Amino acid sequence: MTDTKRAGCRIGIFDSGVGGLTVMKQIIRLLPHADIVYFGDTARLPYGGKSPETITRYSIENAIFLLKEESIQFLVVACNTASACAIGHLQQIFNIPIVGTIMPGAEKSVEVTRNGRIAIIGTKATIASGAYQREIQQLLPNAQLFPIACPLFVPLVEEQFVDHDATKMVIQTYLEPLIGSGVDTLLLGCTHYPLLREVIQEVVGEGITLVDPASSCAEAVSKLFSQPPSHSSLKPEYRYFVSDDPHKFQLLGEKFLCADISDVRLANNY
Ligand code: DGL
Repeated sequence: MTDTKRAGCRIGIFDSGVGGLTVMKQIIRLLPHADIVYFGDTARLPYGGKSPETITRYSIENAIFLLKEESIQFLVVACNTASACAIGHLQQIFNIPIVGTIMPGAEKSVEVTRNGRIAIIGTKATIASGAYQREIQQLLPNAQLFPIACPLFVPLVEEQFVDHDATKMVIQTYLEPLIGSGVDTLLLGCTHYPLLREVIQEVVGEGITLVDPASSCAEAVSKLFSQPPSHSSLKPEYRYFVSDDPHKFQLLGEKFLCADISDVRLANNY
């Protein structure tokens, strides 16, 4: 089958690197027949410590790449940092449905909290943008929010230190302000944090519900389809593009996606 025949349900996903594969994993779970093109901006990661202007510029370039080179019909901004800083700009510029992590993550947090005390963790840029805070406050004006930037979590996950004692200590240090805060919900506002889920839960205790925007984002994406894409006799097509080092992306990416990754290509013009 040609590309054009399949093109009606091609979802484009971008992230600063491998992290967005946690979102892709959830989308595959809900839409197992959709064709997906993933772009990881590995040459310019991490986004989490950069300015909103730079993150917005990168996000626009990533969207243009997916639209022009890969003719996507839906765009998923898997990166929480890019969603926090750039989704409004992207929605103004591009005329296709665009889903990010902020609104779905905020909605889920408001749905699960019982006492309105919600902690939000993410990169420095995500927390500084106030995007999750604004969205939650709009849905639940009396919410009491506890935003905490956790910049060391991303490198710990990428170095595969998930089960390391050092990681537990870092998590305890960042999340110490939550002790005695009465928080009942913790929003994991970064692509990498689902991989730390077990340790985070152990540190904060079972009484706090963890919200993963990756699953909420995938649910929002699946709602874009009145009928889920189906190719009865065809396997879905997954393509991966990166702006640097396809091999490194493949090796680490398989841990995030929990599946084999093949056909990773270097994107032109990055
Ligand atoms: N993907 C980013 C996010 O979800 C984390 C990695 C980065 O800082 O680029 O915020």
